[in-house]
Amino acid sequence: MGTNITWHDQSVSRSEREKLNGHKGCVIWFTGLSASGKSTVANTVDRKLYQRRMSSYLLDGDNVRYGLNAGPDILKKLHGDHFSERFGLGFSAEDREENIRRIGAVANLFCDAGIITLTAFISPYRRDRDRVRATLNEGDFIEIFVDTPLEICEQRDPKGLYKKVRAGEIKGFTGIDDPYEAPANPELRLDGGAKSADTLADEVIAHLEKVGVIPVLTRSGSH
Ligand code: ADX
Repeated sequence: MGTNITWHDQSVSRSEREKLNGHKGCVIWFTGLSASGKSTVANTVDRKLYQRRMSSYLLDGDNVRYGLNAGPDILKKLHGDHFSERFGLGFSAEDREENIRRIGAVANLFCDAGIITLTAFISPYRRDRDRVRATLNEGDFIEIFVDTPLEICEQRDPKGLYKKVRAGEIKGFTGIDDPYEAPANPELRLDGGAKSADTLADEVIAHLEKVGVIPVLTRSGSH
C-alpha cells in the first residue's frame, strides 16, 4: 500500500518558537520502576520551570493511559468490543512498545513546538526508549533514570499495586515478574531512594542549565 502522504515543513519554525519562548525545546524522558518517583520529580521540575516562566508540559503515565493510550476497558463503553481489542493498550511487551511509540511521537511534536516536554512512564524496554531517542535530534532527548531500589518502591506502594502483585492479583508487573531494563548511559541518574523530590528536581534543572536548554539564572533571579 502506498502511503500517499507527504511531510510538509510548517511556516513557523522551531527556532522561531524557541526564540519567542527564550529557551530550547527538548524531551526529558524519565524512566524507572513504578513508585520510583518519576511523576513526583517530573511534576516538581514542571513547577520550577513554570515559576521561571518557561514553557513546559508533563505527559504523565497514568493520565495518558486514560486518554490517548486508553486500555480496552475504557474504550469498550464508547467503541465496542472489536475496537477496544484492536486499539486498547495493556501491559504486554507489545502494548508497552506501542504506548511508548505513541508517547514518543507526541513528545516529538511538543519538542518541535519549542516546549520543554517531560514524560514520566516506566518505559521498561531499552529498545523502545532508544527508538524514541532516534527520532529526535542529538541533544533533544534527555534520558533520566530515576534509580530507586525495588524494595523502596515496594515499601512506598502509593497505589497499593505491589501488594496486589504479591497477592497474585496482578501478573506481569514491572520489576517483579516483568523486566525493567535500566538505561546503560542516561544523561542523568537520580538517586530516588535517598534524596527528596525537590533536591532531585534541582539536579534536573541544573542539568538543563548546563546543556543550555534553559538560561542560567542570575543571582537577581532574572535571565
Ligand atoms: S509502561 O511500561 O508502558 O511504560 P506506564 O508508565 O504507561 O507503563 O504505566 C505504568 C503504570 O501502570 C504503573 O505506575 C501502575 O500504576 C500501572 N500498572 C498496571 N499494571 C501494570 C503492570 N503490569 N506493570 C507495570 N505497571 C502497571
